Amino acid sequence: MATYDLVVIGTGPGGYVCAVRAAQLGMKVAVVEKNPTLGGTCLNVGCMPSKALLHASEMFEEAAHSFAKMGVSVSAPKLDLPSMMTFKQQGIDGNVKGVDFLMKKNKIDVLKGTGKILGTGKVEVSADGKSQVVETKNIVIATGSDIAQLKGIEIDEKRIVSSTGALSLEKVPGRLLVIGAGVIGLELGSVWRRLGSEVMVVEFLDRILPGMDGEIAKQFQRILEKQGFAFKLGSKLTGVEANSKALLAKIEPAAGGAADTIEADVVLVCIGRVPYTNGLGLKEAGVALDNRGRVQIDPHFATSLKGVYAIGDVVAGPMLAHKAEDEGVAVAEIIAGQAGHVNYDVIPGVVYTTPEVSSVGKTEEELKHAGVAYTVGKFPFTANGRSKVNQTTDGFVKILADAKTDRVLGVHIVGREAGEMIHEAAVLMEFGGSAEDLARTCHAHPTRSEAIKEAALAVGKRAIHM
Ligand code: FAD
Ligand code: NAI
Repeated sequence: MATYDLVVIGTGPGGYVCAVRAAQLGMKVAVVEKNPTLGGTCLNVGCMPSKALLHASEMFEEAAHSFAKMGVSVSAPKLDLPSMMTFKQQGIDGNVKGVDFLMKKNKIDVLKGTGKILGTGKVEVSADGKSQVVETKNIVIATGSDIAQLKGIEIDEKRIVSSTGALSLEKVPGRLLVIGAGVIGLELGSVWRRLGSEVMVVEFLDRILPGMDGEIAKQFQRILEKQGFAFKLGSKLTGVEANSKALLAKIEPAAGGAADTIEADVVLVCIGRVPYTNGLGLKEAGVALDNRGRVQIDPHFATSLKGVYAIGDVVAGPMLAHKAEDEGVAVAEIIAGQAGHVNYDVIPGVVYTTPEVSSVGKTEEELKHAGVAYTVGKFPFTANGRSKVNQTTDGFVKILADAKTDRVLGVHIVGREAGEMIHEAAVLMEFGGSAEDLARTCHAHPTRSEAIKEAALAVGKRAIHM
C-alpha cells in the first residue's frame, strides 16, 4: 500500500497548486482526479475556455465594427464557429498538458479515479469498478463546485444549457435567454451576442452583478445595453416549455404575479454554483458540512476530522480560481509547519467582458453598512488621454479610502483592461497603502493606469485632468 505525506482530492486550481507547493516543501504527494484530464472546472469548462471564446469573439466584433474607423479596411468577417471551438480546445489542451507537466516535474503521483475518505489517513480511489486504498498523513479536499440547478428546469446541455453547454454550442442561437446576471451570464452572454445572438438576461434581483459596487454595476449595465443586451430585472424563470421551433420561457416578477412568456432558442441557466462533495464519503468519515453544504473548516483549513483539510470552491468564500490557488499554497505551508495565510480582504474579482469590470476590497455599500467614514475619488476614462486616442472611453475608476487615515479600502473599475489594472490597487492594499501613496506614485504616460492615479488624486480633490 502506497504511503504519502499528502493526498489531494481534486486537481482544479486549488488542488494542483496545493500539490505543487507541498512537493516543493519536500512532501511525498499524490493527487486524485476523477475527470479524464487534470485542471478542474477552471481549465476544462470554466475560466480558460470562456476566456478563449471571449478573446476570439472580441476579435470578431472588433474586425466587424472597430477596424474601419481606424482606417483599417477589411471585408466583413465571417464566423467559422467550428474553428473558433478548435481554438478554444487548443487553449484547454495546452493548459491541461501544463498541469500534467507540473505533476511530473514535482514528482507528484496522479491517481485517476474517484476519491473517497475512509477516515483519518485513508483514501480509497475507485475507477472502472476497481479500487485501491492509499495511506497518507494528510488529506486535502479540493473537489470544487458544480452548477446550481433551478427546480423543475432540466438542463440538457443542448437547448437548456449550463455554462458547460454554453461553451460548446454548435451554432449561434438566434435568441439566447440568460437566467442570472452574474459573472457567467454576462461573460457568456457577451460571447454569443458578439457572434450574433439577441441576448436577454433575466435577473432575480433589481440589479446586475450583486456583490460588485452598485454605481459600477449601474454604469456597466448601461454600457451593456448600448451593446445590445436586454435586461429583465426583478424577475425569475418558473418554467420552460419546448416546441419544435422554440423554447417558451415563463418569466414571473420576483415577488410573484402574472407570468410573461419569452421565446428563445437557447436558455442558459447560470444562477450560481454549489459545493461538490458527492462520493467523498464525508458523512460516514465524520467531516462536517455547514448549512450551505460547504465543507466546514477552521481558520487553518482544518475540517472536523483530524488530518483532513479543505480549500477552494468546496469551502466558504468567493468561488474564484485565484482564491482556491492561494488557499492551496497556504494549506500546504500550514501542513509543513509554516505560517500559511490568505488575506481575504484583498482578493480581486474580474468580469472579463468588454469593457472589463474589476474590484478589490470593500464596495461603497459595504462601507455604508459597516458605518465606516470614507472618502471617494473617481476618474472617468473620457478624461484619460490613452483611452481618448484609442476611442475606448467607456467607464471609470473609483477609489474608496478611509476618511480618517486615507488607507485605501476598495478600488472598483469599469473599463478596458480593468482586469490587469486592478493589481496595483491590490498590491497597495496588501501593504496597507493610502490614496496619497497611490497619487504620489509616478505612472507611465500614456497609460490607462493613469486613471487610477487620477482617481487617487481625486480622493484629495486635486485630479489634474478633470
Ligand atoms: P475545481 O476547479 O472545480 O476542481 C475540482 C476538481 O475535483 C475537478 O477536477 C473534479 O473532477 C475533481 N473531483 C471532485 N470530486 C472528486 C472526487 N471525489 N475524486 C476525485 N476528483 C474529484 N474563476 C476565476 O477566478 N476566474 C475566471 O475567469 C473564472 N471563470 C469561470 C468561468 C466559468 C464558466 C465557470 C463555471 C467558473 C469560472 N471560474 C472562474 C470559477 C473557477 O473555475 C473556480 O473558482 C475554480 O475552478 C475552483 O477551483 P477548485 O480547485 O476549488 O475546484
Ligand atoms: P453568480 O453568483 O455570479 O450570479 C448568479 C446570478 O443569478 C445572481 O445575480 C443571482 O441574483 C441570480 N439568480 C439567482 N437565482 C436566480 C433565479 N432563480 N432567477 C434569476 N436570477 C437568479 O453565479 P454565476 O454567474 O453562475 O457564476 C458562478 C460562480 O463562478 C461565481 O461564484 C463566480 O465567482 C464564478 N465565476 C467567475 C468568473 C470570473 O471570475 N470572471 C467567471 C465565471 C464564473
